[in-house]
Amino acid sequence: MFKKLVLVTIIFASSLMAAAEVNIYSHRHYDTDKKLFKMFEEKTGIKVNVVKAKASALIKRMTSEGKNSPADVLITVDAGRLFQAKQKDLLQAVDSEYLTKNIPAIYRDKDKKWFALTKRSRVAVIRKDSTKENELSTYEDLANPKFKGQIVVRGSNNIYNQSLLAAMIEHHDEEYALKWAKGVVANMARTPKGNDRAQVKAVANGIGEIAIANTYYIGKMVHNKDASQRKAVSKMKIFFPKFENGGTHINVSGAGVAAYAPNKVNAIKFIEFLASPEAQKLFAEGNYEYPVLAGVKSSDLVASWGTFEEDNISINSLGENNAKAVKIFDKAGWK
Ligand SMILES: [Fe+2]
Repeated sequence: MFKKLVLVTIIFASSLMAAAEVNIYSHRHYDTDKKLFKMFEEKTGIKVNVVKAKASALIKRMTSEGKNSPADVLITVDAGRLFQAKQKDLLQAVDSEYLTKNIPAIYRDKDKKWFALTKRSRVAVIRKDSTKENELSTYEDLANPKFKGQIVVRGSNNIYNQSLLAAMIEHHDEEYALKWAKGVVANMARTPKGNDRAQVKAVANGIGEIAIANTYYIGKMVHNKDASQRKAVSKMKIFFPKFENGGTHINVSGAGVAAYAPNKVNAIKFIEFLASPEAQKLFAEGNYEYPVLAGVKSSDLVASWGTFEEDNISINSLGENNAKAVKIFDKAGWK
């Protein structure tokens, strides 16, 4: 009898455990995340299932899956895509005292549908032997003809660039943003190609003078298995441009709970975990991102790049202005 009871209890407990899972649709493409998911599993006993793809593909998938979507959490590497998911009613509002209290208002959705987890700044990267920092100042000034033939930057279909332009629209207006984009195109050293790291490599190898890239890529190049990346980045230094009436452009990686999340409670637990001090520390140390949680320090390498003033606009505006930014890039001829 006792044996039978134990057996039944074990079967019942394991069926409960089998049900404890959370399904993540993630655009993040970093090794650190694997460690974080494992930490969460060990801490909570909730199994993390991950579908990795580009945010646009994940959004498409969630849309076609509709109410039957197994997705619990959507993670993107950009505020613009989180905004898009929200617009398509793919996310639901989350009441989490921890998230609302600990993530600053400019770094979360005003309707509680997504929360930033890490910050990244989009900066100028120049050669160590270059004196360009004496000429560099604002993002606005990157359109100045004095930089003709000197700027290398990736294509306009990239969301990091779209968000930078969305911020430019927010600081000025569409007309100004178009003029600016045209000015930057006129200053390009080559037709845009490759990712952020390719821009840094190009300048390291003497193609152009100023690469535009997200900060964490510098960290990833420093600690890379590929010697050519380490060599290229060893020649480079960072300059933090500012907006004329603001600070350095900030974008975020963030997460929201899916509208039809089958494991909503686990989903909220998962996002709260990613915003916890221990997870934030790993984002900072392992992926060279800026933690969104106050009191968590940047990694030593990131700190060595220096401090800067963060831009003051709400991250919400990056999504709100995204469609305008895409149109403006087209008009400006930014490939
Ligand atoms: Fe990235």
